[in-house]
Amino acid sequence: MFQASVYAQRRRQLAQNTGNGILLLPGNNYQPFNYTANTFPFRQDSSFLYFAGLDLPGMALVMDADSGNEILFGHDPTIDDVIWEGPLPSLSDLAASAGIGHTKEYADLAAYLQNAIAKGQPVHYLMPYHSDLKIALADWLGTPELTPSVALTKAIIAQRSYKSDLEIAQIERSLHTTFDIYRYAMQHTKPGKKEYEIVGGIVGIAGAAHGQMAYTPIFSVNGHVLHNHHYGNTMQAGQWVVADLGAESEMHYASDLTRTIPVSGKFSPVQRDIYQTVLQAYTNAAEAARPGTTYRECHLLAWQTIAEGLTNMGILKGDAAEMAQLGVPGLFMPHGLGHMLGLDVHDMENLGENHVGYEAGQERSTLMGLKSLRLARTLETGFVLTIEPGIYFIPPLIDRWASEGKFKDFINYDRLQDFRNEGGCRIEDNYLITDADARMLGPQVPRTIEEVEQAMHI
Ligand code: GLY
Ligand code: MN
Ligand code: MN
Repeated sequence: MFQASVYAQRRRQLAQNTGNGILLLPGNNYQPFNYTANTFPFRQDSSFLYFAGLDLPGMALVMDADSGNEILFGHDPTIDDVIWEGPLPSLSDLAASAGIGHTKEYADLAAYLQNAIAKGQPVHYLMPYHSDLKIALADWLGTPELTPSVALTKAIIAQRSYKSDLEIAQIERSLHTTFDIYRYAMQHTKPGKKEYEIVGGIVGIAGAAHGQMAYTPIFSVNGHVLHNHHYGNTMQAGQWVVADLGAESEMHYASDLTRTIPVSGKFSPVQRDIYQTVLQAYTNAAEAARPGTTYRECHLLAWQTIAEGLTNMGILKGDAAEMAQLGVPGLFMPHGLGHMLGLDVHDMENLGENHVGYEAGQERSTLMGLKSLRLARTLETGFVLTIEPGIYFIPPLIDRWASEGKFKDFINYDRLQDFRNEGGCRIEDNYLITDADARMLGPQVPRTIEEVEQAMHI
């Protein structure tokens, strides 16, 4: 973890920004895999990590914004804990390492909160995403109606959106592991291999770097299935693989990269055309991203570039800027251009996508693709985000739009049939918004056609 003073300063700021009352941030608990004692690997809640840094289950952080008191609720290890898990720190040692002045038994949390409520203090908390904490919160607060605090939600977003140098260094650590992962994936992807053979090696690299993956890997010859978690295909020459892979650092900062790699080691002529268009969309978006520009504008620019490329391939016809405004490229890129990145791969998504990614006056679009844009707001120095345009040929979506005659003045559905089995292509990197522009984070993973082909032939 960082030094205690880092967390103490963050908590002071949070209490000040939230205003008054009790701020309650429960940490996560073990989650059962198939029975209680067999658990998923533990993953701490990211806001708890941000404000307390403690990477163990069974704790809650409480701040009294009125008095300035801070309390870590938890428990001291029992002899049974020590027998099964080895020597464990005392609760007061844990609190001290995070600069928290007081400790109390976890079992006393309900009484503490009830007492505060009786005194008229509001209790601020976030919407829990694990059922055990939903049930616990209802119990602690004595009501089945959970009302998450908008003030606390916004105050946390206001802090976590701006990454410090310490945090950027952590993200870059995870990107170094992800760089190793891509080197491995590009060298080992070959005709005849199963996707899961490569995924096994990838996950091992994250583990060997004392981390884990930041999200479930995507590694599929069916890259047009956007969140494809099936790895059972035998890879064949002529196919290409969407590889969306990102490791977490030891301190749980995420990385989130995508490369699309040809199984044979060489892109086909059609794949080259598609790839070049995606790469151009990526480059245009990266050049446009800077303080003062909205990320919605960057998304529309990427869409416009994709419309231009697909027009050159004979799939679209008309004015590319108009097509972007109308949402025509949503057939080919039905997801957003990117999202914030930090302790979560979709950073702070549990706090509410619109709170995180939209500003006052920005309506969320209902257009295919634009409605999935998680980050639309004006970019500011210190934001870390992904840039991840793609082109996908999704047969059921093509058939749906064709049967509806949707945008038929712009889409050459006959020509599009020639591409319906081409799969998908995405390129994704992580960027820091600086004072003047956007800087790619981490080492350069092969990205151009030439770089990818060369990396596959080493
Ligand atoms: N890896 C998930 C995403 O790119 O959003
Ligand atoms: Mn990704
Ligand atoms: Mn992403």
